Amino acid sequence: MDSFCNFDDKTVEILCELEKTRKEFWNIDRNTANFLNMLIKMHNSKNVLEIGTSNGYSAIWLAKALKETGGKLTTIEFWDKRQSVAKGYFKELGLDDIIETKLGSALAILDEMNSEIKQGTREPFEFVFIDANKLEYIEYFHKVDPLLKSGGIIAADNTISHAKKVEPYLNELKNNPNYQNQMLTFDAGLFLSYKI
Ligand SMILES: C[S@@+](CC[C@H](N)C(=O)[O-])C[C@H]1O[C@@H](n2cnc3c(N)ncnc32)[C@H](O)[C@@H]1O
Repeated sequence: MDSFCNFDDKTVEILCELEKTRKEFWNIDRNTANFLNMLIKMHNSKNVLEIGTSNGYSAIWLAKALKETGGKLTTIEFWDKRQSVAKGYFKELGLDDIIETKLGSALAILDEMNSEIKQGTREPFEFVFIDANKLEYIEYFHKVDPLLKSGGIIAADNTISHAKKVEPYLNELKNNPNYQNQMLTFDAGLFLSYKI
């Protein structure tokens, strides 16, 4: 069993509860979650985007790191029931003040965010966690790239477990001179990309 980063009892209780239904809600495993939490703190990311909230398991880990860096999380989910479960946990854990939840199709919401950034009503992101529809990863990348600062990081999950579906995404990043990449062989495969 890996660490829970000295989280408070309530957070540990909720995360343990959520881990029991991990397969049903397609949550990342605890090692990946712990690594993402550490990475946000090491990178000192303040403005983080998650694509694929589900019931909020990974978002809790991301937001706990952002409480330490003084940042905020924006997380996208198109399934309203899942989003409302996640929102309940965010409130219960006192994380709702730093989490903006967006309901709808990630592709449409990323377009809206692009317009907001152009208008100066939204700040570009420093860290993006991609964990939604594997066949759409390549489209997420094309929409996320203009939203990501230089020096920013994209972490994409399921890049080994769903290697065939995410192949266009991996090929694009591997051949993109603006990104330095590394596959991490965690549970489902976490592909890290650093924007030069
Ligand atoms: C793998 S789960 C996310 C798990 C979550 N990151 C965690 O580890 O706790 C993927 C989620 O993305 C949502 N999703 C899939 N395609 C989407 C899309 N195009 N727009 C928004 N949400 C999407 C699904 O409904 C699902 O809840």
